Order: sequence, then structure tokens, then C-alpha cells
Amino acid sequence: MSSEARGTRRPLVSGNWKMHHDHLAAIRTVSDLGLRLDPAAVADLDVSVHPPFCDLRSVQTVVEDRAIPVLLGAQHCHPADEGAYTGEVSPPMLARLGVRHVIVGHSERRQLFGQSDEVVAATLRAVLRHAMTPIVCVGETAEERDQGITADRLAAQVQAAFTKLPAAQAATVVVAYEPIWAMGTGHTATADDAQQACAHIRAVLSGTVGAEAAAAIRIQYGGSVNADNTAELLAQPDVDGLLVGGASLQAASFAAVVDAAVTVVRKTRR
Ligand code: 13P
Repeated sequence: MSSEARGTRRPLVSGNWKMHHDHLAAIRTVSDLGLRLDPAAVADLDVSVHPPFCDLRSVQTVVEDRAIPVLLGAQHCHPADEGAYTGEVSPPMLARLGVRHVIVGHSERRQLFGQSDEVVAATLRAVLRHAMTPIVCVGETAEERDQGITADRLAAQVQAAFTKLPAAQAATVVVAYEPIWAMGTGHTATADDAQQACAHIRAVLSGTVGAEAAAAIRIQYGGSVNADNTAELLAQPDVDGLLVGGASLQAASFAAVVDAAVTVVRKTRR
């Protein structure tokens, strides 16, 4: 299922800006990115940027005006369409802004803001209802890794998010494998570790939503990705993209990741 079907899965390189860049810095960053990305070069893969909510409108305007080849992304949303949820933003609000991809269940939301597996599952469905693509994050902590329960932890998170999701919808979802010990630490998972975890996630998906949907689902790796480790990670048969934090904040370093990804994609397509 894995390497054979890789060609049908369009790679996705996403920049998660987290709580960085006000709207003016966001405009500068995405404008600079527009000068560095060659639309012809990025034709074989998708690139998304995920600025903070207050920057979305500004970034959307610049991207549309200059036809910058990036998809607009958000970092989070509430599962409800509207309601008395002070401080939250709903899926239809994001859809109206032209948002195409929404990160769901990032480990920082799970750990720091108490987002449960149930809320992740509801949010995933809400994003799909509004015709956007969820990027559902799963990953183990350092303690879970030390205890040797990484596979169980990933299976539980994947099953909680995907159980009872119709296969046709499941096939459009993106999963991001983000080992928590690798995020913002400079300790990237080895390419072998990333491949093993992503292959395991795909096997669990196959048992949950069926082999056909599992073969279509794109699985990203995230955790201290940079231009130097991009090629090795993305060359793995079950790693279909990258979710980039720190290295996505500056246009130069994110464009370097995208360039490295383009090189791998061209090689593996040949
Ligand atoms: P870093 O690339 O900074 O490790 O962040 C990873 C991440 O959390 C992306 O969502």
C-alpha cells in the first residue's frame, strides 16, 4: 500500500506559525515568500501557511492579489458553527475567509488547552462539513516513547479521530505525525523512526476506514523540520509531507524547505 501508492498522494508542506507574527509581520513574511516560491516549481506539491487568526484576512488578501502559490491555513477552530463560545472562531468563519486547511488537535492544544480526543473528532467533522481539509495531529510524549507505548498511543489517537468517518470523507483528511519530544527541541525523529510511525498510522487507518481510504490519506511528519532534514524525511514512502514550525517563520528558511521538498518530489516521480 505504501510506496506503491505514494505517487497518488500529493505532498503537502505546511508552515504552522503558532503564536508568532502580528498582521504586519505576516504581510511581510508572506510577500517575501511570494518572491521566493516559483509557481512552476511548486506545481507538484501543495504548500500551506497557518498564521494566527488575526492575520488571516491580511494574508488572504496578499496571497490572492499576488497569486502566491500557497494555500491559506488556520491553526485551530471550534467545532460549532456559532454560539456563546467567547474567544473561539468557527469553521464557517474560516471558510468564508478562503481558509483551505485547518490544523486540528495540535499537541499544544491538547496539552495546554485540554483538547480531548472527543473534541478533536468533532472538530475534524466540522471542518469537513465546511469543505476544508483537516490536518489532524497525533504523536507521543517522551515518557510514552520511553515506556515503549508509541504504537498504542498513535493507534488510540487515530481511532478516536477516524472511527465511523465514511471512507470517502476520510480519504481527504491529512494526518500529521508530530512526536512531542521532537517539537521545538531540535531533536528530529530519524527518517526511519518517522517512516515506521507513519506506516503504523497508515495500517491503523486501514483497519479503521478501509485500505482504499488509508492509501489516499496524506501523512505529514512534524518536529524540528528544516531544509537540511527535509529530503531524507520526505523520501520515506509513507511520509507525504511536512508540518513545519520554527523553520516556517522566516520566508527564506520556509522557502528552503519547500525547495528541498520539490527536489525530492521530482526525483521520486521520475
Ligand atoms: P517545530 O518545527 O518548531 O519543531 O514545530 C513543529 C510543530 O509543532 C508544527 O506544528
